[in-house]
Amino acid sequence: MPRTEFLATGFHVPSRLVTNEDLAGMMETSDEWILQRSGIKTRYWVGPGETGVGLAKAATLKALAKARLQPADLDCIVYCTCTPDHFEPGNGVFLQRELGLSDIPAVDVRNQCSGFLYGLSIADAWIRTGQYRTVLLVGAEVHSRGLDKTTRGRDTAVLFGDGAGVAILGPTVDDGRGVLSTHLFSDGRHAEKLWVDGPGLAHDPFVSHEMLDQNLHRPVMEGREVFKFASTLMPQSVQLALQANGLTLADVKLLVPHQANLRIIEMVRQATGLREEQVFINIQKFGNTTAASIPIALDEALDAGRLRRGDVLVLTAFGSGFTWGSAAVRW
Ligand code: COA
Repeated sequence: MPRTEFLATGFHVPSRLVTNEDLAGMMETSDEWILQRSGIKTRYWVGPGETGVGLAKAATLKALAKARLQPADLDCIVYCTCTPDHFEPGNGVFLQRELGLSDIPAVDVRNQCSGFLYGLSIADAWIRTGQYRTVLLVGAEVHSRGLDKTTRGRDTAVLFGDGAGVAILGPTVDDGRGVLSTHLFSDGRHAEKLWVDGPGLAHDPFVSHEMLDQNLHRPVMEGREVFKFASTLMPQSVQLALQANGLTLADVKLLVPHQANLRIIEMVRQATGLREEQVFINIQKFGNTTAASIPIALDEALDAGRLRRGDVLVLTAFGSGFTWGSAAVRW
């Protein structure tokens, strides 16, 4: 069975740069508070006319160009987002249409900050079994329009950014390289600790003025609980990835963790015992872009020469659900 390799990556963020000072003009917060608690300095938010699918298309075209491929070379789209452009259908088919394709499957994955890892696991299985050969894996989010940008929503509004990151995946004939493992977990007992309650079909009517008045359409989070579970479960999943592949910490060239919070990333680093230069961090620029954060970070890491052919890459994520996991890749 072939393994799955990354043929190319790409990312795109909207043009509107939003600083912590900009946020302080919208709500009671400060650059100091945001920086101290999260490590975030800036994030990008969409402007008029920009959509998640638009960001995803721009990122896809960059990755296709790097891989010297055309949209018609894609066999399947796996689109990971928790902030879809529309309630239905999913963003995958809209991206397919934007790419001028009409005859390949497009599936949407709803696993929030772990979305890219879940999508990678699905794409990897399809590629290894030969069902699809060249898979476009997308993580893309538009959070900014959904955030409560008042003091009431400041604990979440300051953390999230918009953006898209993609990977084009395909089979490798080189035995040693490619995706070595994916490990996925979820625990729905914590579903309401980071969620958007409505609109939703559990409500009757599924959308109402009252619901909007109660702010049910905004993300709410028990920040401390999320922090506690993330900083425990991400290191565990990294250790699992290493054990499953007979790897040691010294074998890891780079850990690209989901960029949720600088303090969480630092706790993951300390708990695993990795050195600073083994962990890639770019949250200061982009904030938490949920499913897009790993592919954006991966593309930046590659651009910076942090990963070379044959190196061991480990990915880990944690997010709403709770969902979490890891992947190990020999680049
Ligand atoms: N600016 C200024 N003050 C803020 C604020 C903001 N943006 N957001 C919250 N506060 C206030 C709170 O109201 C609280 O005030 P009080 O003590 O008067 O009640 C105070 O700051 C401390 O709030 P608390 O929630 O206890 O802070 P914290 O140290 O737990 O940090 C988070 C808050 C959200 C930064 C932190 O819990 C966190 O990072 N959690 C994980 C979030 C995450 O990564 N989510 C995505 C997972 S994929």
